[in-house]
Amino acid sequence: MINVHQQTFHLITDNTSYWLQISDFGHPLHLYYGPRTLDDPHQSFVNNTQIETGTTIKYHPDHTQYSLDHYGLEYSSQGRGDYRTPSFKAQMPDDSFVADFRYVDYEILDKKPTLSTLPSARQSQQTQTLKIILKDNTGVTMHLYYSVYEQEDFISRCVVVLNDSDQDLILHKVMSLQLDLLADQLDIITLHGDWAKETHVQRHPLSIGTYQNQSRRGTSSNQHNPGVMVVGQQTTQHLGTAYGFNLLYSGNHKTEVELNPHGYTRVLVGLNDDLFQWPLAPGSVFESPEALMTYSQKGINGVSQNFHQFIRTHLLPLGHKHPVVYNNWEATRFDFNHQKIVSLAKVAKSFDIETFVLDDGWFGDRQSDHAGLGDYKVNTKRLPKGLKPLIEDIRALGLDFGLWVEPEMVNQQSDLYQAYPEWVLRTPTKTPLEGRNQLVLDLCLKEVQDYIIHQLTTLLDTYPISYIKWDMNRPQSDWYSPSVTNQAMVPHLYMIGLYRVLDEVFGQRPDVTLEMCASGGNRFDLGMLCYASQIWSSDNTDAGERLKIQEGLTYFYPLCTISNHLAASPNPSTLRSISLSTRFNVAFFGSYGLELDITDLNSLEKKIIKDQIQRYKQYRHHIEHGKFSRLETNQDYRYSWQIEYENEFLLGYFQTLYQSSPKFDKIYPVGLASNKAYQVVSFPQKVEIQKFGALLNHVLPFTIKKEGLFIKTVPNYYALDDASETYRGSGALLLNGLILNQQFVSTGYRPDLRMLGDFGSTLYLITEEKE
Ligand code: GLA
Repeated sequence: MINVHQQTFHLITDNTSYWLQISDFGHPLHLYYGPRTLDDPHQSFVNNTQIETGTTIKYHPDHTQYSLDHYGLEYSSQGRGDYRTPSFKAQMPDDSFVADFRYVDYEILDKKPTLSTLPSARQSQQTQTLKIILKDNTGVTMHLYYSVYEQEDFISRCVVVLNDSDQDLILHKVMSLQLDLLADQLDIITLHGDWAKETHVQRHPLSIGTYQNQSRRGTSSNQHNPGVMVVGQQTTQHLGTAYGFNLLYSGNHKTEVELNPHGYTRVLVGLNDDLFQWPLAPGSVFESPEALMTYSQKGINGVSQNFHQFIRTHLLPLGHKHPVVYNNWEATRFDFNHQKIVSLAKVAKSFDIETFVLDDGWFGDRQSDHAGLGDYKVNTKRLPKGLKPLIEDIRALGLDFGLWVEPEMVNQQSDLYQAYPEWVLRTPTKTPLEGRNQLVLDLCLKEVQDYIIHQLTTLLDTYPISYIKWDMNRPQSDWYSPSVTNQAMVPHLYMIGLYRVLDEVFGQRPDVTLEMCASGGNRFDLGMLCYASQIWSSDNTDAGERLKIQEGLTYFYPLCTISNHLAASPNPSTLRSISLSTRFNVAFFGSYGLELDITDLNSLEKKIIKDQIQRYKQYRHHIEHGKFSRLETNQDYRYSWQIEYENEFLLGYFQTLYQSSPKFDKIYPVGLASNKAYQVVSFPQKVEIQKFGALLNHVLPFTIKKEGLFIKTVPNYYALDDASETYRGSGALLLNGLILNQQFVSTGYRPDLRMLGDFGSTLYLITEEKE
């Protein structure tokens, strides 16, 4: 809902209020963003400095107190007295870099406008949009859009610049969102990492100065994810002030958070202004990507849950599906043929897997990652019979078929590159640089976009393919395209080209599930989630490393978008051995699949994996639609996650490092009713007997040898039961922390003893106790 009183605007969601007001001089001032309040906060929130201080620039000679540096502003530029980081920079029609946008009018739209070249969030039934129209006296017009999602507690923002003057101008920076909070005791939470180590959470206090979270890699990047939270210093996972921001964009982004000496915190979210310029001829228009913001008093989980719900409802493709997949990459890499794939598919089917995804290597002259990218004809050295009979064999087993592609790239050893060497990003004077032996196609060129669209739609229309894994395996470099006059347009134009390709290929084919991937999570962002149902989170499939990666992702992205696969042990990324149960328990919190060589499993592993898939399917609806929370733990080296769905609570408890003589572990579920009675039950799982090492000799009536027959054969069909735990108690008791059974301490095995060790874990189900 949007209320307007004179020139004060109140944007109201179920739990939040956002107030802005037009000043006497026509500047939109920010008054308030926080818990819903019906009072006009004008008096209490405008920083109405009355005294002209020594180094202040007066906006008007007769109003000594009005200096833009002292106010919260809805949008800002340079050269008119506000010296904080600006949201807008341009060489204006008068050639200066000084701009001063002032209020002209407003409109309330009963819908949410969509962008013409970039992805947009879908509206809800009640979405209203406030459009504030501003003008600089050179004739440049700016529209600030605020779309209000009431039930979701979200405001989506974007900015459109129109050159209504008769001179050219060049945009240098157009941020999508500015929020000036009169608050300073704040922490910033961001997600950082690298390849195989994505989205590790970083939280630190904001101090005077500017903090930047940005990507210049041409992708939203595995180094600095665009999701950012600004939270109170006392805010916990469950309680306290928390603001969340994210951008519907998959390329170079930037968030700047500046605390100035007056105690104002300015948050800017948008396109990265490095490597960005945009000439705007008279009569033309520039639209920024959409940025989202949300507020919660329910701490960090509150913001995460808002994002999860919003993304599921307003961004993900309608009817998004998350089949249990088998992907052959880690099992075969480039070493496969028709027969090997069919034998994997047969085992996959026996596990009740739903979709078989054929990964890299099926096309062109792709014997390794040195050749073939860009070509779409089938690799007949590897698949002499072609793709059709392979797909038929897989589908005849009762599996759907998925295919890996990497459409934005080309190897120099490819038919495409030989025919069109000018189709890559390359400057006129330098040899373009390779990453993973490949160059980046110039998606600014319409003919390149059309080539990709043609190849992909032909594939999808020729074969019964229900799933595409779209990969992108290197950052960009050598930004230059002959199609543009100002080369600083290239990174953004590339993204516009990419979104056009995605629209053309998948817009008309809603039945095809798209999984995004960029060397794992190098492009895990809201732009991609407007097309893809899920994103391959990391090339690191080690469950221990995945705990950190997946926990980070849950700060902004719902579980169903986080694609996880059960992989081999020792893990190919880390050489670390982790039990089958923990590998499953971690991958359970997301969209599930398998990636290990399933033709090389013993009968016990096969049985366990089949049971695990059954369990996953049993709770898939909970995972996709439930409310996810990160829980408190009472000691280090622990992760604890919960999914709440219709009075059922699934809880994962993970220990990364066993410490001798451990304290009692507690779990702290949330959302239970204090006055109801509950039962907590662990899901059955097995402990491999090798884990006990020489201790086995103390419990068995005979002596076993390390390399003997017993240890070589028995684990193939027998394992011990892990603790079978059942607890009962009122919601009040459990909310206060449920003490779990004792862990293994040096010796002994009992059916109720928790055998965690390093990287041990348990899944629990909490249900209401029947009378
Ligand atoms: C990337 C992906 C992997 C796999 C390989 C294939 O690394 O992240 O999952 O698809 O490419 O080359």
